[in-house]
Amino acid sequence: MENNEVRMPCHVTIIMDGNGRWAKKQGKLRLFGHNVGVESVRECCEYAVENGIRYLSLFAFSEENWGRPKAEVEGLMALMVKSVLAERPTFMKQNVRFRVIGHRESLPEDVLKNIELAENETSGNTGLNLIVMLSYSGKWDIVQAARRLAKATLEAGHEIDIDEAVFSSYLSTEGIPDPDLMIRTSGEQRLSNYMLWQCAYTEFYFSPVLWPDFRKKDLDLAIRSFNSRERRYGKTE
Ligand code: IPE
Ligand code: IPE
Ligand code: MG
Repeated sequence: MENNEVRMPCHVTIIMDGNGRWAKKQGKLRLFGHNVGVESVRECCEYAVENGIRYLSLFAFSEENWGRPKAEVEGLMALMVKSVLAERPTFMKQNVRFRVIGHRESLPEDVLKNIELAENETSGNTGLNLIVMLSYSGKWDIVQAARRLAKATLEAGHEIDIDEAVFSSYLSTEGIPDPDLMIRTSGEQRLSNYMLWQCAYTEFYFSPVLWPDFRKKDLDLAIRSFNSRERRYGKTE
């Protein structure tokens, strides 16, 4: 699906929600919904590649999601490994740079290993930046930045002059522009501790579609809505 008349946001971020409800509607286990959701990820990546979107970030697993039943967490981690392995050739073919952002220390070793292999393999790719937010939360990000800044101050032996740019450079999203558009699927209208700092001036779009049903046409609707917004950043026009 190519779109010539529509202006593309530089960074689109998606809170992929509704897998469990989708599975329940089919009388299946929640994990079935997560598995089918991978096809929606593929569709969105393809749309982003076709339309020259520079950054697509996807909220795949929150710090809070560690509190879900063990079988679901293990299933999600296994799905991550399987998907990364399966998609690596496509990333190379489509010139996609793959990265994971989140609290890496809490990830199982095989997940970490496979992520790093894909990150290294795709590090020279110059097309779409695909960022999977895994074991991520907005408050975690702000706290880890503050902690590292405090350490840098100690090491420097003097106070570091902290402004917004300096603080941003300690966030896990360093170097990545703030999202222009945040999409959340499944009708939920909340941020769920996602990119709290980075979404300060992001446009929000809430889709009623459950993630496993989300297709290019649904992403296109969100981007068309974004095109109709006037971003004022506190000014008058
Ligand atoms: C989103 O779907 C995927 C993750 C949070 C890992 P959910 O699993 O939250 O699905 P619902 O919200 O229960 O339907
Ligand atoms: C947010 O969804 C996390 C991800 C989509 C990865 P949740 O389904 O976990 O959020 P809540 O619990 O409804 O706020
Ligand atoms: Mg949910």
